[in-house]
Formats: sequence, structure tokens, C-alpha cells
Amino acid sequence: MLMEKIVGLCKRRGFVFPGSEIYGGLANSYEYGPLGVELKKNIQDEWWNTFVRRRSDMVGLDSSIILHPKVWEASGHVAGFSDAMVDCKKCQTRTRADHLIENFLESKGKPMSVEGKTVEELSDLIEKNNIPCPTCGKFDWTPVRKFNLLFETHIGIVPEAQSKAYLRGETAQGIFVSFKNIIDSSRVTLPFGVGQLGKSFRNEITKGNFIFRTLEFEQGEIEYFFDPEADDWKKLFESWKESVWKFVIKNLNVREENLRWREHGDEERSFYSKRTEDLEYQFPFGFKELWGLAYRTDYDLTQHQKYSGVDLFYVDQVSGKKIVPHVIEPAVGVNRLMAMVILDSYAEDGERIVLKLPPRLAPYKAAVFPLLKNKPELVEKARGIYENLRKKFMVAWDDRGNIGKRYYAQDEIGTPYCITIDFDTLEKGDVTVRDRDTAQQERIKISDLEKFLEKKLE
Ligand code: GAP
Repeated sequence: MLMEKIVGLCKRRGFVFPGSEIYGGLANSYEYGPLGVELKKNIQDEWWNTFVRRRSDMVGLDSSIILHPKVWEASGHVAGFSDAMVDCKKCQTRTRADHLIENFLESKGKPMSVEGKTVEELSDLIEKNNIPCPTCGKFDWTPVRKFNLLFETHIGIVPEAQSKAYLRGETAQGIFVSFKNIIDSSRVTLPFGVGQLGKSFRNEITKGNFIFRTLEFEQGEIEYFFDPEADDWKKLFESWKESVWKFVIKNLNVREENLRWREHGDEERSFYSKRTEDLEYQFPFGFKELWGLAYRTDYDLTQHQKYSGVDLFYVDQVSGKKIVPHVIEPAVGVNRLMAMVILDSYAEDGERIVLKLPPRLAPYKAAVFPLLKNKPELVEKARGIYENLRKKFMVAWDDRGNIGKRYYAQDEIGTPYCITIDFDTLEKGDVTVRDRDTAQQERIKISDLEKFLEKKLE
């Protein structure tokens, strides 16, 4: 129910549209509309400023989406980045076997995790529990098989000379591939991290739950390199847990009771990881992964060293010690952050719908209204204030309908302040500023408006 309201609001007000809608849609793909692109960009800026710009132990990177195909062999994605799928022979629907089994057992009051089970074990579970196809209700499945999630593409325009490549399945590998260039070109010393924001692609065929799981999505990933003999990995892991938690609570203003950490068990954790924990958010479809935190040891750099034949050691400038650093990796999807922020800030307050977005994330920081549309002196004054504020802030203009309706329209898209220009403004040089969350109004001098908004955005 809540999810339907959110999807409806996002489409109606230009946050998120279904992908390729005029062609009948494309499953698990979405377009970010005029307000959605602003909100997503503000979340990205918040992430980048917090984790890259404001930290002296971090640097940034923007690597390619198409990397050398050997990267994905070295990382293990070509051989092992797959989901177990099962096809219904009656209606041809392909379903993720783990989701099929877990959802079915949960609906029967027997919740169970099938993480780490082999394809044979998954087939057995479907058989034993007589699980029907959720689309057509029949029971006629193929055996469970693995399907790789990497998107394949081809480089070159002459068919005979084409070579297979992949769209990146995670941004992380770009960081490992550039590791040598980063340490050779900058003054980073261990421990240090490299942060990257950018698109990743996965051939997700299962139902995506709006923008939670899509074919392409933006990741914000950090590889934090350290010497395991000099730094205690458990302490670093805890400090990253704290930073991530604080970011979600303080910067994104999400309610603590909707968050929890969940540690991966031995069966779920990748073989190279010593510890993995997911920060989960309580979406309307259950607690789900928002942000992964993994201690990946020296697995990736060692693999790239092996496959590329290039030395990826870090040499300590003082002691001369030569090591392949270990990494802790906090990895998040920006689109999931955005879904969470919209859900968590959504409120119904009497007749109005309010998105209580933190002002820094809100697409518009303020809206400017002339009290009456047909009074040229009010419109002219309001227009001047609007044009002036626009030089510094994202500001909306609205002169349609009555003031009450304009307030409601801005509340629904999360605009924190509405500024009304009335007849007193012409005489006294002040305006009414109405607060979205409290609906309280105060008079503020036109000359103080910029400072007022700047303070609210600190
Ligand atoms: N480098 C590690 C890595 O990529 P992951 O858990 O597969 O780990 C990290 O992905 C984050 O990326 C997830 O926690 C999630 O927020 C986001 N993510 C993963 N797949 C996604 C998808 N299909 N659609 C949207 N976001 C996704």
C-alpha cells in the first residue's frame, strides 16, 4: 500500500518514471525525472562530500564502465557472479530460486534462508515443498540453473574483429585496477581509501521492487586499504560501521528504528571475506540490504597481480616494507538510498502529504509565490526575489491557484520553505516564510532571505 503510494507520487510529481514507458516499459529499469535527478544528485553530493572531500585519508576516482575483460576473470565475476534461476515450463517465467523458496516458506510461516545452497539442493526444496509458479500457479519447473549477472557487450564494429567485453558489475574493480596509478601519482599513505561513484550493471531478471533492484544503478563504493600488521582490522571495521550508520541517521535523516546490522553467516559470506555485515533498512517489503560492509582481505589486488603480471605492492616510504594491502569495503547503491529517503520522509498529515526531506537533499530549497497572480506589482516583486535566490539555490516558482494549494503542492515534493510576497512586502520589505514541517509562518526581511536559507542548509 505504502509502496504503491510512493510509486504513484514519484511518477505524478516527476521523481521516477517507469523505464521506456512509451514502448510498453522495460522491466527493472526507471527514468529519473526533473525532481528525481535533483534528489539523487543531492544524495550523491552528500556521500561524496562526507566520505571523499571531508576526509584527509580518502581520495576519489572515476574509472571506466567498460574495463579490460580480464578484470572480470581475475575478480571471479565471470566464473561466479551468478544467481540460481528456475523456469516455469508452462508460462515461461524465469524466477530466482532463492526468492521463490524463501517467499513461499515465509508465506507458510516457516521462514528459512537458503543462502549457500547448491542448485541441486534448491531444486530439491522446490520439489519437496511443491512450490507453485507465482505467475501461473502451475507446478512444472526446469531444474535450477546458474545464470551470470554480468552484462556482455562487444568492442569493435567489424563483426569478425569484435571482442567480448562486460559492462561493470560493480565499481569496486575499477579501484583495484587503478591502485598502482593512484599510489604512484598521489601522496597517499596507508591506511587510505579510494571512493568512487558511478553506474554498475547487472542482468537482474527478478521482480525489482521499484528502484530497489534494477538493471543499472549507481554505486558508491570505497576500498579502504591498510596494512593488517599495523592496523587492527576489527577496529577499522567498527569505525566504518559507525561512519555509515551516522551518515544514514544524520545526513539522510533516517529513523534509527528502521535500520539494523546483519552479519553474514559462513554459508552466505564470499570465500575471500573474513567478515561481511549488511546495513538493512525496513522497506515495506521487509528488512533488506542497503549498504554492504566487507573485509575482502588482499584477495582482489592479489588476483589482479596474478592475472595482469604487474606488481601491485605498496612500499612504505619510511621502513621500506613491501606489502599487498588488505581492504575493507563499504558499498552502497545510491538508488536504494533514494528509495529509503523517500519512504522514510513520507508522511500523511491530515489532508496533506509531506516529504520531510532534509533541506540539503530537497530538490527545491524554497518556493516563491506572489500572493495574487493578477497584481502586477506583486508579481514583479516576487519575480525579482525568485531570480535573485535562483543564483544560489534551487528555487521553485508558483502562481497558480490559491496559497493553500501551492503549499500542499510544495509539501508533497519536500520543499522546506515557501516564501510569499504580499502587499506588506511592498511597504515593509519583508516576506512570509512558511516552514514545511511545522506549517509555522514568520516574517523575514528580503535582505535576510539568502542568509536564512544558507543557515538551514548547513
Ligand atoms: N563491491 C561489492 C558489491 O558490489 P553488492 O552487495 O553486490 O556488493 C553493493 O552491492 C550495493 O549496491 C548493495 O548494497 C545495494 O545497495 C546496491 N545494489 C546491488 N545490486 C543492485 C541492483 N540490482 N539495483 C540497485 N542497487 C543494487
